[in-house]
Amino acid sequence: MQQKPSGPLRGCITVPGDKSISHRAVMLGALASGDTRITGFLMGEDCLSTIDCFRKMGVEIEINDTEVVVHGVGLHGLSEPEGPLYTGNSGTTTRLICGILAGQPFTVTVSGDASIQKRPMGRVIGPLREMGARIHGRDDNFCPLTLYPSELYGMEYTLPVASAQLKSAILLAGLYAEGQTTVIEPTPSRDHTERMFRALGVEIETNGNVITLDPPEDLHAIDIAVPGDISSAAFFLAAGAIVPRSELTIRNVGVNPTRTGVIDVLRAMGADITESNHLDGAEPVCDLTVRHSALHGTEIGGAIIPRLIDELPVIAVAAAFAEGTTVIRDAAELKVKESNRIAAMVTELAKAGVDIEETADGMIIRGGQTVHGADFATYGDHRIAMSLAVLALAADGASRIADPEVVSISYPGFFDTLDRLGG
Ligand code: S3P
Repeated sequence: MQQKPSGPLRGCITVPGDKSISHRAVMLGALASGDTRITGFLMGEDCLSTIDCFRKMGVEIEINDTEVVVHGVGLHGLSEPEGPLYTGNSGTTTRLICGILAGQPFTVTVSGDASIQKRPMGRVIGPLREMGARIHGRDDNFCPLTLYPSELYGMEYTLPVASAQLKSAILLAGLYAEGQTTVIEPTPSRDHTERMFRALGVEIETNGNVITLDPPEDLHAIDIAVPGDISSAAFFLAAGAIVPRSELTIRNVGVNPTRTGVIDVLRAMGADITESNHLDGAEPVCDLTVRHSALHGTEIGGAIIPRLIDELPVIAVAAAFAEGTTVIRDAAELKVKESNRIAAMVTELAKAGVDIEETADGMIIRGGQTVHGADFATYGDHRIAMSLAVLALAADGASRIADPEVVSISYPGFFDTLDRLGG
């Protein structure tokens, strides 16, 4: 599709529900005793993959216009699916479900699309095996993965990477293990699993980087209100910051501190972002307003990386419009996302004339020069597509975005919302 440079973006929007929380709401709702009513659920392809997998294991899940109702079968109520479980493009579904499947009394195979089949699963296979799981993966690292019935034992495990998917897979297996399960993180990653466990009555303690879970008898179903996804809001925060004369508000955005690195970094670059209407619940939410302002380069690395890992592509776009140099380091995990996001952004921003250099664990962007519209590839990656669409709004000349429909993985309706704002 063609994306022309845009006039100011103005107005008030909401973004779809948080992807990470939507997945977890279905998974924990399925394992709970009783019904879970989920409002604000993200009807994106990834979360629909999660619903599909649990339906195949006998969980009744109703999808209405605005809500999803999961009729929980209890911790030990899943049934053997007739065939393999298909997780589509979703890393969260694939990795988290392995933790649950490791504790089931049946054999089951899991696989996804071409991208999922290239993503490393050894990081999940290793610790689950240490807990007693029997898992077979292609080359011990890739989908398809087959899990066989086994006895699980709690353990203490230090994560080699700050990954919430890995942490959550181990904690989910811990539901079925004998004894306590302890996970130690190198730096804190998103803690939605821990928060939801607590809300469902599971005994789970967090002490700094150490999380300990006691296996529960059962999970008590609750109603879950999913906040707007800050990872989706991030595209509009960046767009509002770089498109002259913009001022826009995004209502009801989840601002869990393990997710708000993008706000910190954009502010450090000079962005004008204000917060209002804070509401504290299991997951904190607020409204975010962004106004255009001059941006300057910054350094991004260390403990902030897990707090903004999915936002780095659009932060790279903001950096292209910022005066001076932005350095992104400690972000090698970007190479094993839905695409190699370092290579993808370096290649595409270079097409737009941006002075950008790939490094071993990130990139260096020398911004502030004219950014040109171009013919952009999206690598089948929803976040690359939306990041380049944001770039196109503030570029000089029109752009073409290949495969724009890929945004429906996490943000169906992204381009309509952009249109409504004047983009
Ligand atoms: C997610 C964790 C992150 C993130 C992904 C969603 C989650 O992945 O990139 O989009 O829901 O737990 P990693 O755990 O691999 O860092």
